Amino acid sequence: MKQEILAKRIADVIQQNGRPMHIKEIASHFPDKPESTIRGRLYTNLKKRFDRVARGVYMLLSGDGAAFVVEGDGRNLAMFEDESVDAIVTDHPWEDEASNKGTNRVFDKTYDHTSFRYTIEDFEEKARVLKEGGFLVEILPAENEQNFKYLYEIKVMAEAAGLNYYAKVPWRKGKCVYNTGRKSKNSEDIMFFVKGRARALRPDKQRGGWMSGTSYMLPTEFDFEPISPKKRIHQAEKPVELYEAILEAITRPGEMVVDQFAGSGNLGRAAMRRGRIGVLFEILKENVSRMVQNLSIPEISLQV
Ligand SMILES: C[S@@+](CC[C@H](N)C(=O)[O-])C[C@H]1O[C@@H](n2cnc3c(N)ncnc32)[C@H](O)[C@@H]1O
Repeated sequence: MKQEILAKRIADVIQQNGRPMHIKEIASHFPDKPESTIRGRLYTNLKKRFDRVARGVYMLLSGDGAAFVVEGDGRNLAMFEDESVDAIVTDHPWEDEASNKGTNRVFDKTYDHTSFRYTIEDFEEKARVLKEGGFLVEILPAENEQNFKYLYEIKVMAEAAGLNYYAKVPWRKGKCVYNTGRKSKNSEDIMFFVKGRARALRPDKQRGGWMSGTSYMLPTEFDFEPISPKKRIHQAEKPVELYEAILEAITRPGEMVVDQFAGSGNLGRAAMRRGRIGVLFEILKENVSRMVQNLSIPEISLQV
């Protein structure tokens, strides 16, 4: 009974705070109790009352979706324990001028300095934190004469890290076709990888239960209007509906999805709408402030 009262008091503290909290922060509200007691209450109520977001960081389980923002380097996934993340959905910054022209990846010095090329270590880290059977979704520009080798390398590196090619679904960006000289362009590629064998998200209509694979048959293309330049808060902003379709395919409600390069934070909006928990990394301070406004959530830092 006493234990229940302490769990309730911890829940009240996290609720008043309005964001996930590190265990040390929680413990500072209970100076008469050793940290081990607090940890004990959190552990015994895990998945009932609390959820663990990262090493030492706990949030209140509400049944609703949630999103929070980490200001920092999304390539550094050290805050996550092995096999603790249900899915990663991300859109890596791009430096190739040709693939930016005429698309929403307008070449811009403000984020060019944050662009990079993936290495095998990036994929090993993604594979480490993902749960077995979990999906990694990489949003990549359409192939062209400048980027095709790198796009191929990405798939090879992913496979070498144990993230198997599952599907490629182009995102057709509405009706507008961008004129880039001789070639027209209006798509990006959504790459689905899976750690090992895909988890079972597909209902088995004949025998009941679940079959391996995404929750619904992936379409030949996603068809969502891009956000108009006037309404965009980030030049590479993806529509929330696109993210919702992806989240529905690869996760269940209540699960945690990480966006390593979040930009506008629209993945977080999709997570909140669909009852998922989004953890969003962004390295540029000005993007973080805009993202927090976009998400209407209190500004938080999860550096632990
Ligand atoms: C392609 S944009 C993402 C756009 C996003 N998908 C959206 O819908 O708004 C990539 C973002 O990653 C950020 N970024 C670049 N390097 C980063 C890093 N190492 N860690 C976290 N964010 C980074 C950039 O500032 C940029 O906002």
